Amino acid sequence: MKEEFKAFVIDRDESTKEQSQGWKTVSTDDLMDGDVTVRVRHTTMNYKDALAITGKSPVVRRFPMVPGIDLAGEVVASESDRFQPGQNIILNGWGVGETHWGGYAEYARLKSDWLLHQPEGLSGADCMAVGTAGYTAALCVLRLQDLGVKPEDGKVLVTGASGGVGSFAISFLAQLGYTVAASTGRMEEEPYLKTLGASEIVDRGTLSGKGRPLDKETFAAAVDSVGSQTLANVLSKIAYGGTVAACGLAQGVDLPSTVMPFILRGVTLAGVDSVMAPLETREPAWSMISKTLDRDALAQITQSAALEDIEDLASQLLEGKIRGRLLIDVD
Ligand SMILES: NC(=O)c1ccc[n+]([C@@H]2O[C@H](COP(=O)([O-])OP(=O)(O)OC[C@H]3O[C@@H](n4cnc5c(N)ncnc54)[C@H](OP(=O)(O)O)[C@@H]3O)[C@@H](O)[C@H]2O)c1
Repeated sequence: MKEEFKAFVIDRDESTKEQSQGWKTVSTDDLMDGDVTVRVRHTTMNYKDALAITGKSPVVRRFPMVPGIDLAGEVVASESDRFQPGQNIILNGWGVGETHWGGYAEYARLKSDWLLHQPEGLSGADCMAVGTAGYTAALCVLRLQDLGVKPEDGKVLVTGASGGVGSFAISFLAQLGYTVAASTGRMEEEPYLKTLGASEIVDRGTLSGKGRPLDKETFAAAVDSVGSQTLANVLSKIAYGGTVAACGLAQGVDLPSTVMPFILRGVTLAGVDSVMAPLETREPAWSMISKTLDRDALAQITQSAALEDIEDLASQLLEGKIRGRLLIDVD
């Protein structure tokens, strides 16, 4: 089968190292190696996609590259026993959109080891509205649960609350019975965050500047997608024996903390990675999502966006102007 189709391609001039990008007509023969070919139906935009499109961070490590770290679609050809033509699959991460052509195209060829069957009870559009951001939020919540954090332990803080990871973390935690405090720089989003399940709003300005190595024990646990000084301050406010699931760097990659929360309060800092997480970790996360997803919250979190607008959307997302998640219908 050979099909011509449109793809958003990022390229780089190797002498000047300047990045260029735009829509191109390519063919299924141009797709990279893999044992499953997929007609992409839905994709989304994550923080990492925005970094790739704008070139603000060296996310793309092979050129030319089709970005898009998440996709959902239908198998059109398969050499794998696990997948048959006509079945619906989802993909999150595995270096897709970074070193392997991704979701901003009508077709993708992928390794079957990276794919999950579309989870029961969710459509492809649902899965892309959730996307890597929501799946990472689920990984963070499961990590807190695995480390023994219970609803009766006290409040759980979510930073970067209006973003994709933050919005889903609030919703999942609230659905599971936790009391959630949401930290945001957009105080006008209080009604949105409360609709998702937050019971308290924290001005992120109170967490983003230099703080004390140990502060008042305020939260039993936290999901942090911000990093840097915010994560340092969050650690200093975690109660004895509490846990922080850290997955992001929206404020920065540094961590200007001390060992005090760890050695005096037994706090655990649990790192969460979604990209290379094995299938045994992904499957429970998607199963939790399909059981816990609140349809009203999903509708609040998700905005539909057009594939043609991805360059504008990428800039807006990095400027913190996008609330929640963007769902892109590739058809
Ligand atoms: N570890 C992983 O596998 C993994 C997976 C997915 C995402 N991530 C990372 O997680 C982070 C969030 O991803 P996302 O998709 O949720 O992005 P997003 O939708 O852009 O949300 C990020 C949120 O962080 C807050 N924020 C932005 N700049 C900030 C700053 N300078 N200081 C403090 N807060 C700031 C904003 O929330 P408010 O406006 O509410 O303050 C923003 O909405 C990113 O760093 C991303 O790379 C990691």
